[in-house]
Amino acid sequence: MSVPQPPEPIPGARLLFSLDPAVSHLNHGSFGAVPIGVQRAQQRLRDEMEANPLRFFTQGLVDRIAHTRRHLAGFLGADPDGSALVGNTTTGVAVVLQSLGLQAGDEVLSTDHGYGAVSLAIQRECRRTGAVSRVLPIPLAASDEQIVQTIRAGLRPGRTRLLVVDQLTSATAKLFPAAAIVGVAREHGVPVLVDAAHAPGMLGTTVSSIGAEFWVGNLHKWAYAPRGTALLAVAPQWRDRIEPLVVSWEQDSGFPARIEWQATLDYTSWLAAPAGLFTLRSLGVDRVRAHNAALAAYGQRVVGDALGVPPAHLPDPGGPGVALRLIPLPAGTAATIDAARTLQTRIGERLAAEVAVMSWNGRGWLRLGGQVYNTADEYERLAARLPALLAQR
Ligand SMILES: Cc1ncc(COP(=O)(O)O)c(C=O)c1O
Repeated sequence: MSVPQPPEPIPGARLLFSLDPAVSHLNHGSFGAVPIGVQRAQQRLRDEMEANPLRFFTQGLVDRIAHTRRHLAGFLGADPDGSALVGNTTTGVAVVLQSLGLQAGDEVLSTDHGYGAVSLAIQRECRRTGAVSRVLPIPLAASDEQIVQTIRAGLRPGRTRLLVVDQLTSATAKLFPAAAIVGVAREHGVPVLVDAAHAPGMLGTTVSSIGAEFWVGNLHKWAYAPRGTALLAVAPQWRDRIEPLVVSWEQDSGFPARIEWQATLDYTSWLAAPAGLFTLRSLGVDRVRAHNAALAAYGQRVVGDALGVPPAHLPDPGGPGVALRLIPLPAGTAATIDAARTLQTRIGERLAAEVAVMSWNGRGWLRLGGQVYNTADEYERLAARLPALLAQR
């Protein structure tokens, strides 16, 4: 079977970024990349802050944050006043977990596709409260229907206080049918937290169409915002119960201001985040999505071919628009998290290619992203050199 054609490059897009041209940056998924115009917008805000810190913090900052949040929430199809800006998805998850009032005997249900740091947060909250963390195994190739069925069978109404699922998983680059899962959980009276770290900018699904009690996503990955920008959407019945991690001056203002105002911090990443959306819209949101998904699929095929992986063994993300793709590594390679990290560093150092190497369920995977600054030849170069690197043990 022949490798599909890569998408047409988006003219000039690479010039919008300050990435080191000597390196192939094939892992947008982990920490994103901030376009130069967005970096400048943030720097202008920092200049304003440093020109008069007192005025910056005391005259209008809370309103500017609210205005920014409404803009970002509007883009994501979330309720502008039912959402709060937070620093990142990890923080949003922590805010939700510690607001649940878990008790001994309760349980938090999640899946084995969950993000490692989120699993650690669930475990700690369970240890602190005497609740139990239960993790449902879901096969990598499970269909939407199988995922929903597994989750339905795993819910324990009256005991399961929260279900945590990913909209698009990190380690397995798999789309979960978030809206259908929320529907099933609702039938059983179980609130759902959707970890949508990768959704903003990449996926077109609106937050309100998912309908989860809690949804949190990063704008600092695929929506080109400065790092430290995420949105936590909360259903109306929970807004009064959501408590910030840090109590500060907006505590009595209620949701969302009390979640957003976390004392003296650099809030310029939030205020500059609309410049990220401007960049995305200028390039064309649909065009960027189609390009990135097609390029990641191309990269998966050329690297998969080079490693001798039959196309049928390359995992499919399970839906359109996904700009992350997995390639299975030879058995025994990157089988542990430590081994995966070591290999990722070696690929970066020896092949000048930044990729994500994942260890999931005892097996190693290469995860490639596609972004407007990437070109087909970057994946082809990786494909040409990776087999020899993997052969050196
Ligand atoms: C699924 C998922 N959840 C949570 C996170 C954590 O994001 P952050 O480090 O911005 O909190 C990530 C980061 O890649 C992720 O992929």
